[in-house]
Amino acid sequence: MSATRVQLGSWPTPLEPAPRLATALGLRPDDLWVKRDDLTGLGGGGNKVRKLEWTCGAALAEGATTLVTSGGAQSNHARLTAAAGARLGLDVVLVLAGNPGGPGASAIGNIALDGLLGATVVWAGEVDGPGLAAAVDEVAGQLRAAGRKPAVIPFGGSSALAARGYAECGRELLDQAPDLATVVTAVGSGGTMAGLVDALGVDRVLGVSVGAIPDPGRTVAELASELASELASERPSDLASERASGRSSGRGGRAVASTSLRLRLDQVLAGYAALTEPVAAALTLAARTEGIVLDPIYTGRALAGLTAAVEEGDVVPGTRTVFLHSGGLPGLFGHPPTLARARAALRELDPGPA
Ligand SMILES: Cc1ncc(COP(=O)(O)O)c(C=O)c1O
Repeated sequence: MSATRVQLGSWPTPLEPAPRLATALGLRPDDLWVKRDDLTGLGGGGNKVRKLEWTCGAALAEGATTLVTSGGAQSNHARLTAAAGARLGLDVVLVLAGNPGGPGASAIGNIALDGLLGATVVWAGEVDGPGLAAAVDEVAGQLRAAGRKPAVIPFGGSSALAARGYAECGRELLDQAPDLATVVTAVGSGGTMAGLVDALGVDRVLGVSVGAIPDPGRTVAELASELASELASERPSDLASERASGRSSGRGGRAVASTSLRLRLDQVLAGYAALTEPVAAALTLAARTEGIVLDPIYTGRALAGLTAAVEEGDVVPGTRTVFLHSGGLPGLFGHPPTLARARAALRELDPGPA
């Protein structure tokens, strides 16, 4: 049975030039463009909308009554699942790491939006990845016992099915920027990079890990390989014609090796939740050159990774680079160290001598 998608966002998202940021990074003014997937339209926007179109499509096809997903307290994916449920008339249960009285649970950023969007929260305590998955299983079991039909959407919204949303984004990019040499994306749970790799091939996708999962290379490779094999078995004739037109990655359903990926691990530094110095610099640079606001966990790390890639000659002037703005603005408002730093940078008018 082929997968069904439900429309939740507004497509295509804009691709905008970023000449002042390009110059500041050491590129030529016309080299750098920003793919505005922060403007996907639903619930404050962000990359998760493309993935939810597929996972929610599957949930509706199964007759689900309730979406269940998991994440950290400031999960953008959890917030957008809450928004998708509201749009589709489904209940949403978010299983979040942390405690109700803990600092992460305070009424800031994504948590506040989760409440506004009508989600139910289950606090799973201070758990690791497997602990969070076990809590999700338990909640799904309780919902089934109560006569509900839960559909579990994986951590970060990433599965081979969900990655189709980013294969679609990759195809959108080929229409908008046929000479694209590199697209830069943050890598959390891996589905975004996996989908882009499916559409664009390993050489044109530069991922920057944020430290959300232990082995991002293996995860991205597995998701991309699974997606490629599903697509190859579903539509062999489409693949053949895409290959003939030269508009696909040309892998034709073949597996992706983790060693072939362009994946930077150097921006995790003090850890997922930390505000690192390269990220603080990247947030300031994007804001003050282009008026674009990034977030401290994902897109800020992606820009810090691009900055390092230009310095090292991995991304060179004279080639087309696309920076994927994958959203996350509510996460900035849920990150006190970043807010404090931004407030401290606020200039006040010095009236000078009287
Ligand atoms: C704003 C933002 N950008 C990028 C990502 C990374 O996407 P993925 O989990 O598909 O790797 C996330 C994931 O949570 C995100 O919230």
